[in-house]
Amino acid sequence: MFTIANISYLGFLVCIALCIKLYWKLSTRWNGSYSCLVGKTAIVTGANSVGKTAIVTGANSGLGYYTALDFAKRGARVILACRNKDRAEAACLKIIKATGNKNVSYKLVDFASLQSVRTFAEDFNKSEDRLDILVNNAVVGFFEKDYTGDGIQYMLHVNHISPFLLTHLLIDKLKQSAPSRIVNVASLAAIFSAPNFDNINKVPKITLFTELRDALVYATTKLYNILFTNELARRLNGTGVTVNALHPGSVSTELFRGFTGIVDYITKIFAYTLFMTGEEGAQTQIYLSVSKDVENISGGLFTNCKQIGMYSAAKDPQVDKKLWEISEELARISPNEKLNFANI
Ligand SMILES: NC(=O)c1ccc[n+]([C@@H]2O[C@H](COP(=O)([O-])OP(=O)(O)OC[C@H]3O[C@@H](n4cnc5c(N)ncnc54)[C@H](OP(=O)(O)O)[C@@H]3O)[C@@H](O)[C@H]2O)c1
Repeated sequence: MFTIANISYLGFLVCIALCIKLYWKLSTRWNGSYSCLVGKTAIVTGANSVGKTAIVTGANSGLGYYTALDFAKRGARVILACRNKDRAEAACLKIIKATGNKNVSYKLVDFASLQSVRTFAEDFNKSEDRLDILVNNAVVGFFEKDYTGDGIQYMLHVNHISPFLLTHLLIDKLKQSAPSRIVNVASLAAIFSAPNFDNINKVPKITLFTELRDALVYATTKLYNILFTNELARRLNGTGVTVNALHPGSVSTELFRGFTGIVDYITKIFAYTLFMTGEEGAQTQIYLSVSKDVENISGGLFTNCKQIGMYSAAKDPQVDKKLWEISEELARISPNEKLNFANI
C-alpha cells in the first residue's frame, strides 16, 4: 500500500543511500597520476609506464578492467590474463579503442587449473622480455563447483592457490625487471575470517544459506591473499621486487554474480545505490602499481590509496609461514621453483 508513511520511509532510505554514495564520491582518493601521460617521462607523481609491461589477472571486468585501462593510458604494455576468449577479446578491443594503445593484448588462463597457470607462465616467460607489474586481481565470489580438476577446493584454488603459483612462476622475470611490483587484491572481508588450516581444502557445509557459506569462504581466501603478501614480502626482501595487498572498498562489479533470489536482489540494490564505481574502486591497486610514494614499501596493506594497520588475523608470521607451506604443497611447487630465502 502506498501510504504517506510508506512513501516517507522510502524517501528516508533513498536519502540515506544518496548520502552514502556522496560520501564515497567525496572521500575516494584518486591515485594522483592521471596527468602522467604517454611520453612525459619527467612527471614523477606516479610512474610513467611507457616501456613497462604489466599483467592484470581477471581484467575483462570490474576492477581488473579499470586497472588495465589505466595502465594502457600510461603507455604500458598490458597483458590481460583472462579465462574467457570472447570476454577477454571484447575488453582488449575496448581498451585499445579508448586509449589508442595497441600494445594491449590478452592471454588465456584458467585459475581453476594448475596446468593452465603453468602454460600461461611458460608462454609469457618465453615471449616477453620483462614484467614490471603483476596485479593478482582475479577472483570468484561463489562456488562454481566444489573442487577443481586438481582436487583443490574451488574458491581456494582460484583466489589463492593460482595467484600463489603464478607469482612463483613469474618471479624470475620480475626480478630481472626490478624495480618491479606485485599487487595482491585482497579485501576487508578478511576480518570476518580466521585461518582454518586443518580444513583448508574442504568445502564447508551449508548451514543457513549457500550465499553466506560462499561469502565466508571468499573472506577466508582474501585473508590468505594478505598472509601470502606478508610472507612473500619477507622472502623478496632485497630483490627490488615489492609486494603489497589492498582492500579496494565496496565496489559495484560482477563479484557476486553467482548469487540468486532475494540475496542477489539485495546485493544488487546495495551495489547500484551505495557502492563505488569500478573506476573509483580501482584507484588503490593502480596507486600501488605505479606511484612513487610506495616504491620502497613492501608487505603493506592499503585502502583508499593509504597504508593502514594490518588486520589482527594477519599479524602472526608463523601463520603466514604455515599457509605458505600448505600452499606449496597444494600448488605442487617443485623443489627448484620454491622461493626460499636462500635462493633470492
Ligand atoms: N567488488 C568489491 O566490492 C570488492 C571488494 C573487496 C575486494 N575486491 C577484490 O577485487 C578483485 C576484483 O574483483 P571484482 O569485484 O572486480 O570482481 P569481478 O568483476 O567478478 O571480476 C573478477 C574477474 O576474475 C575473473 N575470474 C574468475 N574466475 C576466474 C578463473 N577461474 N580464471 C581466470 N579468471 C577468473 C573473472 O573472469 P570472468 O568474467 O570470465 O568470470 C573476472 O574477470 C578481487 O580480488 C576481489 O576479491 C572486490
